[in-house]
Amino acid sequence: GAPLDVDLSPITDGQIVNVFWRGKLIFIRKLTEKEVKDMKAIPQTDLSDKATFDSRVKPGHDNWLVVYGNCTHLGCVPIGHSGNFEGWACPCHGSQFDAVGRVRRGPAPINLPIPPYTFASDTKVRIG
Ligand code: FES
Repeated sequence: GAPLDVDLSPITDGQIVNVFWRGKLIFIRKLTEKEVKDMKAIPQTDLSDKATFDSRVKPGHDNWLVVYGNCTHLGCVPIGHSGNFEGWACPCHGSQFDAVGRVRRGPAPINLPIPPYTFASDTKVRIG
């Protein structure tokens, strides 16, 4: 499949945008300064699928999150800006994810996966 270019310039702080690539839902989220700070401060011991903040973002663009948008339990679409971890809550069986898509409450077994992407510029992301 062809890569998908997404213009980031209209996306505001805290906003989550849905795009589709190869038929899969992807969330692009512009983290606020507070969300970045809070997510960096979470100890690995709090995480069942351990992943550092840095492993969830790209160097130099650490206020941008790009993740697949289906719950890693059975594939429902989690609701943004809900739950207890500044992230998403799944309406189907109660899984919760934090602002960088790490699972914080089951039954989802793993973090929201990150698709292949690069920054083509500061305002353009290329997925694929
Ligand atoms: Fe999300 Fe089951 S599909 S918790």
